[in-house]
Amino acid sequence: MMAKTPPPQTYRVKSFGCQMNVYDGERMAELLDATGLSPAAEGAEPDLVVLNTCHIREKAVEKVYSDIGRLKREDGTSPLIAVAGCVAQAEGEEIMTRAPAVRMVVGPQAYHRLPDMITRAGMGERVTDTDMPAQTKFDALPARRKVGPTAFLTVQEGCDKFCTYCVVPYTRGAEISRPFHDLVAEAERLVGAGACEITLLGQNVNAWTGEDDKGRTVGLDGLIRALARLPDLARIRYTTSHPNDMSDGLIAAHGEVEKLMPFLHLPVQSGSDRVLRAMNRSHTIESYLKLLEKVRGVRHDIALSGDFIVGFPGETEAEFAETLALIDAVGYAQAFSFKYSARPGTPAADLASQIMPAVMDDRLQRLQAHVNHGQLAFNRQSVGRTCQVLIERRGKLPGQWLGKSPWLQSVHIIGEAAIGDLIEVELVEAFANSLAGRLVCAEPLPRRLSQAIGTRK
Ligand code: SAH
Ligand code: SF4
Ligand code: F3S
Repeated sequence: MMAKTPPPQTYRVKSFGCQMNVYDGERMAELLDATGLSPAAEGAEPDLVVLNTCHIREKAVEKVYSDIGRLKREDGTSPLIAVAGCVAQAEGEEIMTRAPAVRMVVGPQAYHRLPDMITRAGMGERVTDTDMPAQTKFDALPARRKVGPTAFLTVQEGCDKFCTYCVVPYTRGAEISRPFHDLVAEAERLVGAGACEITLLGQNVNAWTGEDDKGRTVGLDGLIRALARLPDLARIRYTTSHPNDMSDGLIAAHGEVEKLMPFLHLPVQSGSDRVLRAMNRSHTIESYLKLLEKVRGVRHDIALSGDFIVGFPGETEAEFAETLALIDAVGYAQAFSFKYSARPGTPAADLASQIMPAVMDDRLQRLQAHVNHGQLAFNRQSVGRTCQVLIERRGKLPGQWLGKSPWLQSVHIIGEAAIGDLIEVELVEAFANSLAGRLVCAEPLPRRLSQAIGTRK
């Protein structure tokens, strides 16, 4: 037992990792608000700190321990610390042993129980809850509060794919889809609270399935079509998809649903079929390329994005060269690349042929050069296009605003605008990570007009 502490009044949630963790972090904050706590002021020390962690790569874990260390005050005490997220799920016991300052460990499927845990921790207990209860946490969470112009909505969680390098199936559990009605209701609330773009999230978001309002079993495209009917929702995106769950219906939606943005994040990981087999990806380069061809067939301007791992155990120089060739052939609008990180408990971690760190560094640099080249080329071919930009925040210069194009490019403009405006912009200059835009009309399009596009069919 540790010393009793007065109930916390203020909190801070710090999220690492993927967008699903960002979503969970927002929901935890809403839950803490509903429990009577308030967010700590900028610069002030909160009574409660929630570290919402990621376990995907080694560095992510080390970051958590150094963050815990940094929270220590000069007299050796700390605020109330809760470790949440995927590290909590994977290493709950170890955290409790290694970091005595941590008072709560809560897994990604159990965080709706935080208020009760906080009470117990206040009584001096150290509490661990890494259950994956059958009843979903979503049913126990409070309603959504005010949000910005873009919002995340987790529709699917978990993963049944078991890629040999990956911890997600262990930290997030089996694939589950949230019910259609709950999602439409949450989307309506988000739109009511100010969101005009919603990104549907899932570790395998395109594996989502549910029963629509007519009792039909539908896939993600069915959900997207239903959300596209919300009059004040202007844009829909989704991430992350697995190539094997990319149904014909979802591909067709890219050609038919105007509000579905022309962007597809479809990780491939490697350009070598042998490596893909060793990764248990269950797709080939040929099947992946065929898929991209189909998507481009219905939406020629689609921006493609991917994830790549360099230095998977046994990856040869020739196999790595195949990945570079794939990147050049596809022409990605953006991509994320990572050095392979051996994760305890995953099959690939036990392979004998681990690659030297220096080789991985070299491959990562070379791969990123190809990605940057493709990204700049993609941005350059956008110059001259006129498109709608959703303004998300102010820029650094006076009168400057930052927003996103339909292709998820960052666009900066100078002129009259406000956060949440969808404005008509001509893209005039391309850089590696952004574009400069020029306002086409001084007045923002009336929101209703620009959103009343609905579906083409
Ligand atoms: N479900 C998604 C993404 C999950 S994690 C998918 O299957 O595509 C996000 C990315 O992290 C993965 O796409 C992969 O590129 C990377 N990643 C996962 N495990 C990793 C590991 N052990 N080492 C390095 N990168 C990894
Ligand atoms: Fe991990 Fe593979 Fe599942 Fe993606 S599909 S979360 S990489 S196991
Ligand atoms: Fe990280 Fe968990 Fe997301 S391991 S990437 S926070 S699912």
